[in-house]
Amino acid sequence: MPVATDTRLKTEEIKPGIGSRVLNAKEELLSGALATEIRELLEQRGVLVFPQIGFTDEEQIAFTRTLGTFAPEGEGNEGVTKITLDVKENPSSAEYLKGSLYWHIDGTRNDVPILASLLSCRVPSPKGTGNTGFCNTYAAYEALPDEQKAEIEDYRVAHGPWASLFYYEPEPSLAKLKGYQGIGEAELPLVWKHRSGRKSLVLGCTAQRVLGVDAMTSAQILVGLREWATSEPFSYSHEWSVGDLVIWDNTGTMHRAEAYDPTCGRMMHRTKLQGEEPFE
Ligand code: OGA
Ligand code: MN
Repeated sequence: MPVATDTRLKTEEIKPGIGSRVLNAKEELLSGALATEIRELLEQRGVLVFPQIGFTDEEQIAFTRTLGTFAPEGEGNEGVTKITLDVKENPSSAEYLKGSLYWHIDGTRNDVPILASLLSCRVPSPKGTGNTGFCNTYAAYEALPDEQKAEIEDYRVAHGPWASLFYYEPEPSLAKLKGYQGIGEAELPLVWKHRSGRKSLVLGCTAQRVLGVDAMTSAQILVGLREWATSEPFSYSHEWSVGDLVIWDNTGTMHRAEAYDPTCGRMMHRTKLQGEEPFE
């Protein structure tokens, strides 16, 4: 079926501070005609929900490609990545995904973090578990008092997977700690100054310490800003239905999976868009 060239984006706001639903039909989305508008809306709103759009894997990949450069996950993987905490389904990364239960940004170890992630629901977890939480780190930054903005403007923060390890395993073996530390650390700005001129907060469970301040001050800065950024005005918790697709702007949001039983069958399929801008 040919798609009319005057196809318009049909959207509704989820909350003033974060999120929009996109209500266009599958064919309109796959045509690519709305891609530029979708990219703009994603940057403005942080999170876009496509309720029960029901993409197949091939459609999700094709839709991802309309929006930018497809980022393969793992060697030569041009397909979707299965996201589940079930070790039977995902032996290689279920352990690493435990960190996704805490607020984070994807790919903080890369100079150029991915632009966006697209997650679709194949099997939801029982109601009341396994939502995905999102928060808008542009909006949270913008709403800070000027005095605090000035204070944090130039802070730099060491990030690493070894910081998130302690969230889900408070007493790891030394060998395990060293293994995680071996993955490396990255020094990132606390305030990301985007090319657009906007600024966002770079936080999350990978944040280990603010450089150049004492340990207690560092912890207060990171905890205080996380509490602020994830507070009600800037956050949204998505309850999944089969076939929902959600895209988040990984450069202006944090997200987390809310707790669920790893054996409940929850299954998400993920694709990613390659980053276009380094942390700076
Ligand atoms: C991710 C992620 C959260 C979820 O795929 O990067 O953090 O709810 N997922 O599964
Ligand atoms: Mn994630």
